Amino acid sequence: MMNLLSIEDFTKAQMGEVFEIANDLRADKSSLALKKGSIAVLLFEKPSTRTRISFEVAMAQLGGNYIYVDPRTTQLSRGESWSDTAKVLSSYVDFIICRLFKDEDLREIAKGSSVPVINALTDQEHPTQALADLYTIMEAKGKLKGLKIAMLGDVANNTFNSLMIAAAMMGMEVALIGPKANVANARFVSKAKEYGIVKIYDNVKEGVEGADVLYTDTFVSMGEESEAELRRKLFMPYQVNANVLKMAAPRAIVMHPLPAHRGEEVTAEVIDGKQSVVFQQAKNKLLVEKAIILYIAGRGK
Ligand code: CP
Ligand code: NVA
Repeated sequence: MMNLLSIEDFTKAQMGEVFEIANDLRADKSSLALKKGSIAVLLFEKPSTRTRISFEVAMAQLGGNYIYVDPRTTQLSRGESWSDTAKVLSSYVDFIICRLFKDEDLREIAKGSSVPVINALTDQEHPTQALADLYTIMEAKGKLKGLKIAMLGDVANNTFNSLMIAAAMMGMEVALIGPKANVANARFVSKAKEYGIVKIYDNVKEGVEGADVLYTDTFVSMGEESEAELRRKLFMPYQVNANVLKMAAPRAIVMHPLPAHRGEEVTAEVIDGKQSVVFQQAKNKLLVEKAIILYIAGRGK
């Protein structure tokens, strides 16, 4: 049985297999489906628009069903352990899909669960997003290997943590560009470095030079609201704007997992401009999540 708790749970070959399933789904191989009656519980502590709804649609379109649960309405709110909760839930359902604050809690769920557990975002990681993002880059550029991805702003955030490893695994060069005061997470950087070139910059021009992909994310992630003012000030010099886009390779694409804050991490002109693929990225979440579910369920071929 396989989980997707961290992007590190997938090898390069496994990511390739997920992308092949996504291609099959895109080509409308309608035989790809879940075992009849498969059910996923979506246990979400943090808000979500795209990930929640695309996973719900994915389960329904694959012939299964889903139950969305706010943990505050369960006995978790009265101290029942994540692991006992998972032990019970997994005796009812086929997948546990979680959006949680702490990665340790996700690991506790996996400990108790007898069915696959999928990370739909935690404080440290966003692996399903990373897979949808790489699939989108492949669609836009026809390849991954040899491309340079520049990630700007809060280089220590969950989206970047998963994406830097996945991108390096697939042969991309990674540039992490942010202020010296905000250090990229050493564990993820050193893992990504095992696979390829990862460089850290505080100078935007140097980092962005030759980049085929400019990637940014919110300056204030969920759970960091109390530091909002400070973070906006710290990261503002790393905004993706028309000037920064000019420093990248010609025809570079602009990516963002959304929700976006126009005028903060990215200008309206750039995110709504013709080099932006952010809505294709959001659309691909559904396709790639379906592929992930089928792959984990062993129903991909
Ligand atoms: N990209 C993403 O995870 O969006 P949501 O927070 O809306 O799910
Ligand atoms: N880094 C962001 C991603 C949102 C999809 C957050 O955690 O809020």
